Amino acid sequence: MLTAALQLLLACYVSRAEVLKGWGNNEAQCYTTRPQNARVVARAGGAAGVLVLSAQFHEDGLACLNPGADNSTRYWSSARLISRNKAAFGYESTPMKFEARVKVPNELGAWPAFWLLPNTHREDCLACGDFGDGWCSSGEVDILEARNRDGLFRSTVHYGGLPDQSWLDCHQATADFNASAAVPYWNRVSAVMGNESIAFYVNDTLVHTVNQTQWYTGGANKTKDPAAPFNRPFYMLLNLAVGGNFPAAATGGNMITDTRRAPYRFMVDWVRVYSWRPTTAGGRRRRSRRFL
Ligand SMILES: *[C@@H]1O[C@H](CO)[C@@H](O)[C@H](O)[C@H]1NC(C)=O
Ligand SMILES: *[C@@H]1O[C@H](CO)[C@@H](O)[C@H](O)[C@H]1NC(C)=O
Ligand SMILES: *[C@@H]1O[C@H](CO)[C@@H](O)[C@H](O)[C@H]1NC(C)=O
Ligand SMILES: *[C@@H]1O[C@H](CO)[C@@H](O)[C@H](O)[C@H]1NC(C)=O
Ligand SMILES: *[C@@H]1O[C@H](CO)[C@@H](O)[C@H](O)[C@H]1NC(C)=O
Ligand SMILES: *[C@@H]1O[C@H](CO)[C@@H](O)[C@H](O)[C@H]1NC(C)=O
Repeated sequence: MLTAALQLLLACYVSRAEVLKGWGNNEAQCYTTRPQNARVVARAGGAAGVLVLSAQFHEDGLACLNPGADNSTRYWSSARLISRNKAAFGYESTPMKFEARVKVPNELGAWPAFWLLPNTHREDCLACGDFGDGWCSSGEVDILEARNRDGLFRSTVHYGGLPDQSWLDCHQATADFNASAAVPYWNRVSAVMGNESIAFYVNDTLVHTVNQTQWYTGGANKTKDPAAPFNRPFYMLLNLAVGGNFPAAATGGNMITDTRRAPYRFMVDWVRVYSWRPTTAGGRRRRSRRFL
């Protein structure tokens, strides 16, 4: 059951820096609130009560609203759900575990993602936070990104930024997990966010750990606030982009899609957030909240 914790993002997006503050990534889709693009269905992929994000191809184009800039015609529509100001979590004396059970599309140009951004009350900025006016100085955690038909699950911590120019001098710690044999099936992807480290898992297999000593923010003094920016509340995003820099980088710089195979589907069985108690054996859940 989809709860109010996840909210459909109303705007459609194109790659205009004025609107997106650099968040366009040259993606091809227009995000909508249409049920064709995001809905909960009784059964999908062999599971009950599944959120399906669906990227549709529009042969004749779709007028995409782009507040504050020119409207434009897009040939793909899709959806991005965000929990900003509805469900945001961060380190609170114990690490937090964010987990989703998903089936990713195995399609050219598909870019499904389950990720975290710093919570903010600002409506005009997806990535503003305590440490800067825009990406990346308040951090970003990508629990899952996949592209094309690569069969790889990528997880990344983005950090850095300059004190007055949050978008400069950004760095990342990233790893790919080869999930190719598992792509047709349900996989649990998660991140355990602590103030000493952030660890990523597929099912319960550790993919990589990013140590607190590795990250910093240009917006704070590392000596005074060593875990910043990842000791603040983060909200969740689930989206299915089409095209854009990430899939194109794997196909010679050009977006390649297969419109005959549209719609592309990204299925989400559930999303859960746990308060996590580390143990020598790895950890166990203390309290949990279920969002889907
Ligand atoms: C974009 O479309 C909307 C809705 O049709 C309209 O209100 C707005 O004026 C348009 N913006 C531009 C810049 O044309
Ligand atoms: C993490 O939090 C614990 C207390 O909850 C504190 O003792 C420790 O110094 C913190 N570590 C960092 C790097 O902030
Ligand atoms: C992933 O593993 C499969 C075998 O399971 C292999 O064929 C494929 O080349 C690997 N992909 C990468 C990018 O290493
Ligand atoms: C994760 O577990 C599911 C079974 O619950 C399995 O189908 C899938 O292949 C597993 N993923 C990986 C990467 O092993
Ligand atoms: C992080 O790295 C430091 C320095 O190498 C090490 O002492 C510490 O144990 C590491 N912490 C974690 C959680 O891996
Ligand atoms: C960061 O804080 C430490 C401890 O208060 C201080 O010694 C250092 O000068 C500060 N660094 C900067 C760049 O302000």
